Amino acid sequence: MDKPKLNVGIIGTGKIGTDLLFKINKSQKLQCKLFVGRNASSEGIKKAKSMGIPTSDKSVDAFVKNPRACDLVFDATSANGHRASADTFASLGIKIVDLTPAQVGPLCIPTINANQILQCNNVNMVTCGGQASIPVLNVVASLFNDIEAISIESHLASDSVGQATLDNIDDYYSTTANAISVFTGVDKDNVNVDLKVERSSWKPDMLTTLRIKLANANINELFAPLQSRLAALREHVPGYNIVGTPSYRDDVIEILVSVRGQGDWIPEHAGNLDIINSAAIHVAELYASKVLSLSDNESEGIHQKIANLFRREPNTETA
Ligand SMILES: NC(=O)c1ccc[n+]([C@@H]2O[C@H](COP(=O)([O-])OP(=O)(O)OC[C@H]3O[C@@H](n4cnc5c(N)ncnc54)[C@H](OP(=O)(O)O)[C@@H]3O)[C@@H](O)[C@H]2O)c1
Repeated sequence: MDKPKLNVGIIGTGKIGTDLLFKINKSQKLQCKLFVGRNASSEGIKKAKSMGIPTSDKSVDAFVKNPRACDLVFDATSANGHRASADTFASLGIKIVDLTPAQVGPLCIPTINANQILQCNNVNMVTCGGQASIPVLNVVASLFNDIEAISIESHLASDSVGQATLDNIDDYYSTTANAISVFTGVDKDNVNVDLKVERSSWKPDMLTTLRIKLANANINELFAPLQSRLAALREHVPGYNIVGTPSYRDDVIEILVSVRGQGDWIPEHAGNLDIINSAAIHVAELYASKVLSLSDNESEGIHQKIANLFRREPNTETA
């Protein structure tokens, strides 16, 4: 008999949402029960239909009409899209893994605080730049107290950036800077975030340059803790790499992080999609493991058990 899986849904059928669908299809712990957009002829919906996945173009109303279909939903719309639907998902008692930079729920970087998913009904996966930089910046901040300023700049291939990403670009900057501040303790006014999209037809892997300004650092202290953070990260983002050797010149530590994706839906160079989707799948699987481990009595039914233990009752007015 197949092992039980957690029923999940996706809202947002663009680049992020469709790649997530492919990652869920590979998962031993998750199964996609509803793939939802607002345009029945989107490429993502066509692809999902061809895979036999139930789809809807009714946006959040699809979940209102089927409140028991999914125990967890990945939001891959836009920051404004998520702000508009967050209360509805909360009233339905559906756990949210938010891949937009809406910052409705607490910020989550899996190698630092994956357990947020067990404690909160809505977790925010920050941004691709945040997932690429913060695991490293957090190690630096744990070793050196007197960081004066941090700047990060990510370089992405143009075909890896969807319209929603461009539409919520201000939220990208503010959420990434806020998350860097939260996970390093450096004041937000001293954090600078930049994003460059390649204009030529060249398809670079995602490359993020981190610059950390601080005096009197012994950079050798960084190497062992950084290696162990890298090992932890590569368990769910195999293409995460530090290019060359971190350097320290003129009171600035410089570290180059590259991310190569797994090529699930989008090509491998789109590490920016892969890193946030892999982070989202990682925490959803952690939650699924917790829930599925409770299912000692098969006959009681895993989904009833989830409903009993983790959900608030749906708000009947909304449902
Ligand atoms: N691309 C990246 O590198 C990246 C990395 C990390 C996080 N993100 C975040 O992930 C989100 C999606 O980015 P993307 O690059 O995948 O953009 P995208 O390709 O434009 O996909 C967004 C999808 O969401 C749909 N949508 C928007 N509002 C909706 C709503 N209210 N209900 C249902 N569907 C809705 C859009 O539908 P239409 O086709 O009808 O517009 C589109 O299919 C953005 O918030 C972005 O900031 C992106």
